[in-house]
Amino acid sequence: MINQATIDEIKSRMDIYEVVNDFVRLKKSGSSYKALSPFTNEKTPSFVVSPSKGIYKCFSSGKGGDSISFLQEVDGLSYIEALKYLAQKYGITIEEDEMPDNFIEEQNLRESLFIILNFAKDYYKNNLHNSDEGKSIGLSYFKERGFSEETIDKFDLGYAFDQWDGLIKSAKENGHNQDFLEQAGLKIVKEEKQYDRFRSRVIFPIHNITGKVIAFGARILKNDKNQPKYINSPETDLYHKSNILYGIFQAKNTIRNEDNCYLVEGYTDVISLHQAGIHNVVASSGTSLTDDQIKLIKRFSDNITVLFDGDKAGLKASMRGIDMILEGGLNVKAVPFPEGEDPDSYSKSLGPEGFKQYLDDNAKDFIAFKASVFIAEGKNDPIKKAESIREIVQSISLIPDPIKRSVYLQECSNLLNIEETVLINELNKLLINKRRDVVKKEERAELVPEAFIQEKDEKTDRSDAIYKQERESIRILLNYGMELIRGSEEQELHLIEYFISESEDLEFETPVYKRIFDLFKEKLIDGVIIDANYLLDSVETELKSVAVDLMTERYELSPQWKDKYKIIVPNEKDVLKNATYTNILRLKLRIVQKLSHENMDKLKASKDEKETNEILMVQRNLKKYEVSIAEILGIVVTSK
Ligand code: UTP
Ligand code: MN
Repeated sequence: MINQATIDEIKSRMDIYEVVNDFVRLKKSGSSYKALSPFTNEKTPSFVVSPSKGIYKCFSSGKGGDSISFLQEVDGLSYIEALKYLAQKYGITIEEDEMPDNFIEEQNLRESLFIILNFAKDYYKNNLHNSDEGKSIGLSYFKERGFSEETIDKFDLGYAFDQWDGLIKSAKENGHNQDFLEQAGLKIVKEEKQYDRFRSRVIFPIHNITGKVIAFGARILKNDKNQPKYINSPETDLYHKSNILYGIFQAKNTIRNEDNCYLVEGYTDVISLHQAGIHNVVASSGTSLTDDQIKLIKRFSDNITVLFDGDKAGLKASMRGIDMILEGGLNVKAVPFPEGEDPDSYSKSLGPEGFKQYLDDNAKDFIAFKASVFIAEGKNDPIKKAESIREIVQSISLIPDPIKRSVYLQECSNLLNIEETVLINELNKLLINKRRDVVKKEERAELVPEAFIQEKDEKTDRSDAIYKQERESIRILLNYGMELIRGSEEQELHLIEYFISESEDLEFETPVYKRIFDLFKEKLIDGVIIDANYLLDSVETELKSVAVDLMTERYELSPQWKDKYKIIVPNEKDVLKNATYTNILRLKLRIVQKLSHENMDKLKASKDEKETNEILMVQRNLKKYEVSIAEILGIVVTSK
């Protein structure tokens, strides 16, 4: 385990701006920073980073926390992995508490999978560089392809021996758990037999955005028609191929700096472009492009340039990719390649300088690209031309921003020499059809019986009231629990002590608030009063996120507002005792009301007289209690 001194140092050094900025594009906004949320598909930024508080808050997904929880959320890291990432970022040496020899951290599955995948990566690399078979077959293949030592190292390329159990054996020798090998997708278990998934192939590790290996691709070297050329890791707890891009770790900083991302088809394209000095390149590798992958790129740039093969399949893939990118609200260009060439082969035949020049000269926006494809297919053919216009307008209709749409329509009109009004009509037809689909869905929703909806609302309203009241209690306690107030016997005591003594029979309903409240009680026995920072330091994301919410919520008027409108924020501290007391009462009132409603429901369902009498008795007592609380609060309760 990482020792406490190291954790403390990491926490004192981590800077939320620096950490988050590696993953999203932050823009200054007053004393904080804003960005599009990396967690949702939003169009206007609601993701806020506050460097002075060391926290982030995503208002569209509700997520929030410190640098550590950000890393956990954004890249699926465990707590320990997040600490290690930060230690590396800030050059902090990790000191671990003494552990028995051969101890392998297995605190949780994800952690263990990362460890075994990293072990496998090192194993394959070692095979490639330090064995006769690896050197003569794997390494010489990469060299033949023109990959330099530096490139091979940068992408952690490796080699799997022509053996059934090379990795299995080596993992065993090093004390790794065999189950994890299977769960990481490295071992195949079939009935009685088990064997390595990757055999006699060169290995391309797939890194996540923080540079951890989460999966592998592997290429065959022999000429074997019965074997697929490439095989990949299956989906695992760590590897979801639809939301990762090959090369993103190596490319992300350059994508941001160049404000453009080249999108290619495969491993070898990414690596060859790197070798040619083009570092802002990723591949969707094996699958067609997904929304999540586009979202991932959008964190670093709004501009994508598609580089797909010059053959028919490649062309089709680029057309589909272009439409998805437009729909995601990004700008897209495409570069055509000669038939039979892909970025990998063409970068080699033109050389680094020539290839860069080719990209600059031939990158076309999607309209020019689509037009050129159709024109190439059938010059002066009026039917082909009409088809191409419809295709292009169809793509334009996907763009969410109306201003951009009209700019592109103009360009299309100029390029294809068509009157703009014709294009506008065509576009409107498509947009109206789309809207009709949306309306249809809404109509369907209206078919749900009204009575059902009402009943449901009433119930959720009631639990909602309790939730809000509980939240308010915790908020007061986290912010003012340590304040000294005067109790009923005129003695001084902490607000939290007062709260607990006044709320003996009170149970919180919302699980997370109940936990925090219990934590308050527990810690108070040790003489510690918990505040928001205590939760922020917790390992648990849920507790952290509550802390952030309650730290950022309410009573936070911006200074401009205060000045401009001369708003005076009532000082909560001045009215603290009162506020706490009323809050407890309100909470009790809500709970009694809920119990009483539930009791009434029972009454309606009851058939037996004895039972009915019992229920009525309970009801009278609940009502009495409700009235007495309400009297103190000054609320009139209608007796039903
Ligand atoms: P290629 O067929 O060009 O692979 O596919 P290659 O390794 O460059 O082989 P040669 O030397 O040209 O014959 C290009 C990319 O498409 C993906 C890989 O990522 C590869 O880098 N691909 C290809 C697969 O994922 N699976 C396959 O079966 C084939
Ligand atoms: Mn190729």
